[in-house]
Amino acid sequence: MLTRDEDLVAWAWAESEDWMELCVDPAALDAGDAAIAWFLERAGSSAVRTMALDTEEHVFAALDRAGFLPEDEMPWFTHHYLDLENLLPVPEVAGYTFRHVDPDEAGPRSACHRAAWSQPGGTSKVTAAAYERLMRTPPYRHDLDWVAVDEAGELVASATIWLDETNGVALVEPVGCVPDHRGRGLAGAVSVAGLAAARDLGARLGMVCPRGDDGYPVPMRVYQGIGFTPGPRTVTFVRPSLEA
Ligand SMILES: CC(C)(COP(=O)(O)OP(=O)(O)OC[C@H]1O[C@@H](n2cnc3c(N)ncnc32)[C@H](O)[C@@H]1OP(=O)(O)O)[C@@H](O)C(=O)NCCC(=O)NCCS
Repeated sequence: MLTRDEDLVAWAWAESEDWMELCVDPAALDAGDAAIAWFLERAGSSAVRTMALDTEEHVFAALDRAGFLPEDEMPWFTHHYLDLENLLPVPEVAGYTFRHVDPDEAGPRSACHRAAWSQPGGTSKVTAAAYERLMRTPPYRHDLDWVAVDEAGELVASATIWLDETNGVALVEPVGCVPDHRGRGLAGAVSVAGLAAARDLGARLGMVCPRGDDGYPVPMRVYQGIGFTPGPRTVTFVRPSLEA
């Protein structure tokens, strides 16, 4: 993280050895260069990647200076926004209710996540213990972690909202629905319920970042179905391996 006059002006995060998350104030390009240099120093000669929004010309220029090239590969993501003044009422879905989780529900909440996110060929690693750790990590708030509950009391769909109190933004991430309960509008409805709670806590803008490419179109349909509209898209950049 780089600061100027105590304001944060750039940061780079080594999310993994070969992936950098990056944020640069357009008025502090040298700080952006320094943040990228920090990441490349740790990475050595391996190929590394990052993403920027297609509106962030200053980040494109900084990545170009550091030897990154745009990479035309799937997947890419489209940021979507929703003015929470226009948020719909929470849709009714017969047989289900919506509520936030309680702090002692890491077990059932993680089971709901695993059931939604275990595709054929891969199982989610989100255990109850991992979910307990998440619940203890700010800015997680259990009152912004919303679930759909069926008549048997099972948690069958979920939407976690992350509130940026400074900017009034409520990020929706992730949303899931257990396979047997899909196609009934639960993912959209539980997202609206969570966003309504965030709005009541002061959020003004909802944000979500689904895939924008054709490889996985359902989540974008869910979010556009509750009023989100598309904004900028991500572009992936690679700094190729320096090994011959
Ligand atoms: C994506 C997911 C959350 C959708 O849950 P859901 O409760 O079935 O979604 P909804 O019933 O609210 O569907 C909303 C829209 O998506 C459409 N949709 C849902 N499943 C679909 C499918 N398999 N194929 C095509 N369209 C589909 C619905 O028809 C509806 O569109 P419409 O309003 O235009 O008719 C669910 O499939 C899931 O958990 N997938 C795995 C996790 C994931 O990818 N999460 C999203 C990224 S964070």
